[in-house]
Amino acid sequence: MDIRIPTMIAVGENSGSAGIYGLNSSVFFTFLTSSVIVFFLSQILCKKERGNKSSLHNNYKLNLCNFNILEDFPNICRMEIHIYSLSILIDKKVKIGGERMNWEPKNFKLEATTIWNFPERGNWATHNGEYRGNWSPYVPRNIISRYSQKDDIVLDQFMGSGTTLIETKLLQRKGIGVEINPETIKIAKKSLNFDKNRDYEPRIYNGDARNLYFIPNNSIDLICTHPPYSNIIKYSQGIKGDLSNCDVDEFIYEMGAVVRECFRVLKEDKYCAILMGDTRKSKHIVPLGFNVMEKYLETGFLLKEIIIKEQHNCNTTNFWYEKSVRYNFLLIAHEYLFVFRKPKF
Ligand SMILES: C[S@@+](CC[C@H](N)C(=O)[O-])C[C@H]1O[C@@H](n2cnc3c(N)ncnc32)[C@H](O)[C@@H]1O
Repeated sequence: MDIRIPTMIAVGENSGSAGIYGLNSSVFFTFLTSSVIVFFLSQILCKKERGNKSSLHNNYKLNLCNFNILEDFPNICRMEIHIYSLSILIDKKVKIGGERMNWEPKNFKLEATTIWNFPERGNWATHNGEYRGNWSPYVPRNIISRYSQKDDIVLDQFMGSGTTLIETKLLQRKGIGVEINPETIKIAKKSLNFDKNRDYEPRIYNGDARNLYFIPNNSIDLICTHPPYSNIIKYSQGIKGDLSNCDVDEFIYEMGAVVRECFRVLKEDKYCAILMGDTRKSKHIVPLGFNVMEKYLETGFLLKEIIIKEQHNCNTTNFWYEKSVRYNFLLIAHEYLFVFRKPKF
């Protein structure tokens, strides 16, 4: 028998009462007592989990109840209470984040040189390394802090799992995210659903970085983005417009359209930062980074900085080390972070 208690209750408030029919009084009494115990236990657990982002998608089992945060509604916690053959579902609103969450990296200092190195990728707020190829939050934090002000509009048109937008929200910028893959948008929305700076919820579009028709000319204060590196990591199977399905030549050609849109939407005298890595073909380097840089320069951007970002996820296992020596090639261990400025006319 399933009894659903559909009432959404805010943390700390009392649960709605459930109508329960056809039960004798002792069963009902046991049920009531157990519910009260479970309710108070869940209060404690909910409070604990609010501060613990790594637990968002896990299930919790008590003797009497399953404790489950729903994937589709990350701020709703569902308790399943089992007593005899009775099961009761209670949906409960929870806050993601709380006083225990670390909202800031510890001892953060702006980078001051052209070599950036973040061996610990950063796990404050809801950041995690689960989305393949996501960037360290230290990168957008540095870019946003250095090149924009509070309340500025910041665009990431290759949003991925939302790392940049978590930072725009934390740093009180108005974030805009664009992502071609609707499944990825769900991941980003989950990570962005935290209770800090709710006035700075970003706007998210399922769209194509090559055509930002929904963004007016000269309206963006900063672009901070991280496209796929051609087809090194494929982010989808056959989504039309996904640049991670393009080979090198096609990718560089399509990046021309991306760069033209950057130029159109960015305000004059403002910055566009883009992270790009190289690849290798037949033991020779393919300078994707420089190829993309050329597109920016051709379009009229000025080059403000070239930053070398050390890579820590590159494959330096013995297998690759031996291959590198035997076949005489070096393992790529850096990416380029280009910062361009749109000139003032
Ligand atoms: C390198 S990932 C971005 C990772 C992101 N910086 C993060 O931290 O999660 C590149 C993203 O671009 C998306 N993408 C590919 N082609 C696109 C396009 N034409 N327009 C918008 N997004 C695109 C991919 O689905 C992928 O999520």
